[in-house]
Amino acid sequence: MFGLTKKVRYAVVGGGQISQQAFMPGIARTNNSELAALVTGDPVKADELAKLYGIKAWSYDQYGELLTSGEIDAIYVATPNFLHMQYAVPALEAGIHVLLEKPMASSVAEAEQILAAQQKGGAKLMIAYRLHHEPGTVEMITRARNGDFGDLRSFASVFAQDVAEANSRGHNGYWGGPVPDMGTYPLNAVRNLFGQEPIAVHAVGTKAPDRGFNFHDTVAVTLRFPDERLAQFSVSYATASSEFFELIGTKASIHASPAFMFGPKIGIAYVEKTAKGSKEHGFDPVEQFGNETQYFSDCILNDVHPEADGDEGLRDMRVLAAIEQSLTTGETVTLEPLARTRHVQPDQALKLKPAKEPGEDEMISIIPQSA
Ligand SMILES: NC(=O)c1ccc[n+]([C@@H]2O[C@H](COP(=O)([O-])OP(=O)(O)OC[C@H]3O[C@@H](n4cnc5c(N)ncnc54)[C@H](OP(=O)(O)O)[C@@H]3O)[C@@H](O)[C@H]2O)c1
Repeated sequence: MFGLTKKVRYAVVGGGQISQQAFMPGIARTNNSELAALVTGDPVKADELAKLYGIKAWSYDQYGELLTSGEIDAIYVATPNFLHMQYAVPALEAGIHVLLEKPMASSVAEAEQILAAQQKGGAKLMIAYRLHHEPGTVEMITRARNGDFGDLRSFASVFAQDVAEANSRGHNGYWGGPVPDMGTYPLNAVRNLFGQEPIAVHAVGTKAPDRGFNFHDTVAVTLRFPDERLAQFSVSYATASSEFFELIGTKASIHASPAFMFGPKIGIAYVEKTAKGSKEHGFDPVEQFGNETQYFSDCILNDVHPEADGDEGLRDMRVLAAIEQSLTTGETVTLEPLARTRHVQPDQALKLKPAKEPGEDEMISIIPQSA
């Protein structure tokens, strides 16, 4: 199936900011994956990006034809969240592997349909949680779960930026907004650091008076976990940038910052504090998009079930939906307790060197994320 080169051939679906800035350059760092096609609605991208990468461009109308063309093995879905299902489901049903950007979809029902298509079609599905392959993050998760910080008690985090209303995130309601877009990072981090699923959720949101978002642009979330553990995070589209998390156990606390971002100059770092003093742990920047693609292609080539599978995506989705419900009703929403059997493993951390990123002015027809 994969020919002599044994490289998984990817089509990028949606040539937006993340595809152009990170995925398309990053895949060149892998030794088992290659760019084979771009699906785009923009004729300028179809022409220029196809030339730049030596690949063929397909329109959205030709999508079904691409899936059965024999020219690709996998797709990377990087459309706005409300279109994830529309492109993931037919691919999975056609037996094409899917690397799907987070959040998995824009409702729990859509996420369940994607998972059902994967189970029916048998192709592999991975949610693009790039930090599950980033060495600093994997170290923190591994140490937290090994008990290095004592009994884990609480987690606090902020992830905020100034997002333009014109970007697709800025005008597509709750599921394009800061909770699914940015809140997925602290949520996914704490679920993996605790190795548990939340049992209750409460959220409060505000709208900056001088901004035009059609959703709460700043949201504070409190999560109750089993074993008397608590997590709080806040996210915003209407402030200066900020990103950190703090995990507090009975023996130590760790403060991670940068905690969630990526790029050739961004290395995840954390400071560990105990009664004896503090220690800094720094990590070199890595090619986070290349890393996740390398890992997913290894799963495809060796028929291994990926760690960040559709179920992992769905577990975040049900919490995101509960946050939406709490914002609407003002009530605390209880969640059915769910056991965890699968976890991020230490050997998932990869160290591919960062690829060069194009600047915002070098990318084609991007509506920049930042205001
Ligand atoms: N893992 C990460 O670190 C990370 C970072 C950023 C974003 N993301 C995720 O990646 C996805 C894309 O984000 P992005 O920042 O790249 O978004 P973006 O710049 O808005 O790009 C989305 C692209 O989707 C295509 N598209 C197809 N139908 C569309 C429609 N009706 N409206 C708007 N665009 C449409 C367009 O590409 P064509 O013009 O080529 O058709 C557009 O450029 C989101 O799910 C986001 O959550 C992940």
